[in-house]
Parts: sequence; structure tokens; C-alpha cells
Amino acid sequence: MDKAQQDALKKAAGIEAAKIVKNGMMVGLGTGSTVRFLVDELGRRVKEEGLSFTGVTTSRRTQEQAEGYGIKILDINEVDHIDVTIDGSDEVDKNFNGIKGGGAALLWEKIVAINSDRIVWIVDASKVVDTIGKFPLPVEVIPFGSAQVIRKFEKRGYKPVLRLDADGKEVRTDENNFVVDLHMERIEHPQELAKDLIETVGVVEHGLFLNMVDTVIVGDPNGPRTLTNPNK
Ligand code: 5RP
Repeated sequence: MDKAQQDALKKAAGIEAAKIVKNGMMVGLGTGSTVRFLVDELGRRVKEEGLSFTGVTTSRRTQEQAEGYGIKILDINEVDHIDVTIDGSDEVDKNFNGIKGGGAALLWEKIVAINSDRIVWIVDASKVVDTIGKFPLPVEVIPFGSAQVIRKFEKRGYKPVLRLDADGKEVRTDENNFVVDLHMERIEHPQELAKDLIETVGVVEHGLFLNMVDTVIVGDPNGPRTLTNPNK
């Protein structure tokens, strides 16, 4: 699939997911290129249909985009509930285990997600996989002592790579942390890996989102299709 095709499928998933948002809702807005299409469509509905809802965002980028459309955004500390969060994902398997954090927003994304009544992911068809792990697993790490954390990951065979930007500088998250990507290729035991990562001092959060998502809207060449998690 080339990028133009992939973008078309992302856009279709985003437009489909925008239908979930109703007047008066509190909506978590994820991060990434698929979510950009979602927010564009929500912005259109605000303008053309008078849709009125409040958002909580998972990154400064999404906040800027949403506010540009006149969507009211609240700080997560100010809200008492979130009806639904719609976010992208880098991979998702048949057990509804996924990898997130390709856009370095995994920490805020997970905080918003776990405080949401319902979680919806929007993906193009290439992201639905048998086994997660081909997409490098992002781990958010405190800069202090990060080289020690990377050494530990190397010893455990996780194949860590510190994420750098185009200028060769460490990528910083919205919390000013680093991102280390684990090139594991196949993650056969995600629960065990998640436990090991979160128990490593210096790790703030990892991009394994295990059995958290309720609904996945897949942009498919035949039109968007919806996968429903039976275990939720
Ligand atoms: C950002 C994320 C994104 O949701 C994920 O990387 C998918 O991005 P895209 O929609 O651009 O493919 O987790 O941290």
C-alpha cells in the first residue's frame, strides 16, 4: 500500500469515527495523522452542522488543531469524565492488544484512555496484524540515567534505539522525556513484557495498550469496518 492509499484509508476511518461524537459529549482526542483527519471532520461538523462538544487532548499538537476549529479544550484535571476517546494506533492484533506511541504521545494517550468510558481506535488496514512487534515499541524514559535504561534493555534482548529527530537530537515528549523504540519484531508475551518495562526504574510508560480498546474502526479498501472487542 502506498502512502496516498494509506492516507485515504486513514481519512475514511477518521470520518467514520467522527459520527460517534454527539452534542454535549466530553471527547478525548488522540494524536497522529489519522486523528488529524478525525479532527478536520469534527471541525467541519462544528462549522456546518453546529456540533457542540468539549475535548480533552493527548498532545499539544492536537490541542492546537482542535482549537483552530473553535473546539473547546479542557485540561484533563478539570473534567469529571470522558465519554469516549478516539485515537490512532500503530498496530493492533486479534486480541485487541496494540502498540501506540509512534507520534511520541503515548503517556498522555494512556492517561486519557484509562479515564475514558469508551476507547475507539482508527487505523488503516495495514495496522491490523497477527502478532504485534514489527512496529518498534515506544517506551517513554526519563532523560536522567536513560543510557543505563538502554543498556538494561540491550541485555534483555529488546534491541532499543533512542529516538532522534531529523537533526540528530533526542525527540522530546510533551513531558520533556525521551523515547526509546524497541525493535523486537514479534512480541509473543505482551503482558510479561509490559510488566517488565513498567518495573524498570526510569521508564515512565510504554506503548503496549493491552485489551484496552473497545472498538477499532479499520479503514479498508472496501470501506470502513468496525471490530468490537468481545472481552470488554
Ligand atoms: C501517537 C500515536 C498515534 O496514534 C499512532 O502513532 C498512529 O499514528 P498515525 O495515525 O499517524 O499512523 O500513538 O503517539
